[in-house]
Amino acid sequence: MAKKPLREDPIKHIVWKGDRLIVLDQRALPRTVKFAACRTAADVAKATKDMVLRGAPLIGCAAAYGMALAARRGKLSDVLKAEPVLRRARPTAVNLMHALDHMLAVAKSGPEKTLSKRMAAAAVKYYEDDLVGNARMATLGAALLKKGSNVITHCNAGALATAGIGTAVGMIRAGWLAGKVKHVYPCETRPYLQGARLTLWELMEAGIPSTLITDNMAAHLMKTRKIDAVIVGSDRIAANADVCNKIGTYGLAILAKHHGIPFFVVAPSTTVDFSTKNGDLIPIEERSIREVVEIFGSKIAPKGAKAHHFGFDVTPNALVTAIVTEKGVVSPANAANLRRVLTS
Ligand code: MRU
Repeated sequence: MAKKPLREDPIKHIVWKGDRLIVLDQRALPRTVKFAACRTAADVAKATKDMVLRGAPLIGCAAAYGMALAARRGKLSDVLKAEPVLRRARPTAVNLMHALDHMLAVAKSGPEKTLSKRMAAAAVKYYEDDLVGNARMATLGAALLKKGSNVITHCNAGALATAGIGTAVGMIRAGWLAGKVKHVYPCETRPYLQGARLTLWELMEAGIPSTLITDNMAAHLMKTRKIDAVIVGSDRIAANADVCNKIGTYGLAILAKHHGIPFFVVAPSTTVDFSTKNGDLIPIEERSIREVVEIFGSKIAPKGAKAHHFGFDVTPNALVTAIVTEKGVVSPANAANLRRVLTS
């Protein structure tokens, strides 16, 4: 089968219409393709909270559009009211805070008579910057892989999680086109199953050879098969280059270290949070335990069972081989290198 080009997205999952934002409902994938319309900032906040849309960069882009929706009546007070509503939608992905800070600055940078236009233009630019950044990270990241690599990825850091071709999955797609990636093993990513439902769907749509594994198969796979790299995205990178990502990422990084496998993190500069000194200070989202004790509404644990649902974990920088950003590759992953690459 001919390889599909790098820029081809499986589906248009976020479309700005000027008076509304159309988003693909990722909760229904891959069984059903359905869309939701967000007409207000509150709609965007709810869609984000309810995981209709997810993935750190996409959460940021949607928030930017949410601010543009709030600005439609040309009143700064509407924007100021919408901003905390959006900010509360999810706590961990710092792209949300980055987008809101940026859009607030745009809102305050001119008169109300141009507010609506300025905010719409800024939101579109924010989205386009993410899209362009994805392509750059894909190229930089693919260059780090050796020919014919078998790779493990976790959660969904693909097109669905961004404006473009994805971060980790973008690197995988570029690597596959260049003959660097031979086979991909997405972890299913309990409990929300982003790997099984979303990443595998994207990989199969792109025609990339891939085989699903459950999260607890990764160690066995690393020991018994040739695994050449682990490639993941991130929701927040602290100033010391500790990396917060979907729950299970830390375990994969420890396993990779034990087996001598490079561990790559691919994330745009909007994911880097210089105001948070280290990973221990990153707020970790705790979600409903229903998502753990039930699968698609069916109980899998005894009635009344207690459970934890941590959405994310933190991988210490010492376990990270390189962080690939659109501004360059940070390796070794440490505070000085992160600052140098991101601010030069
Ligand atoms: O809870 P989610 O699905 O929003 O979590 C997503 C992740 O953890 C991704 O790996 C991360 O946001 C990077 S997406 C390019």
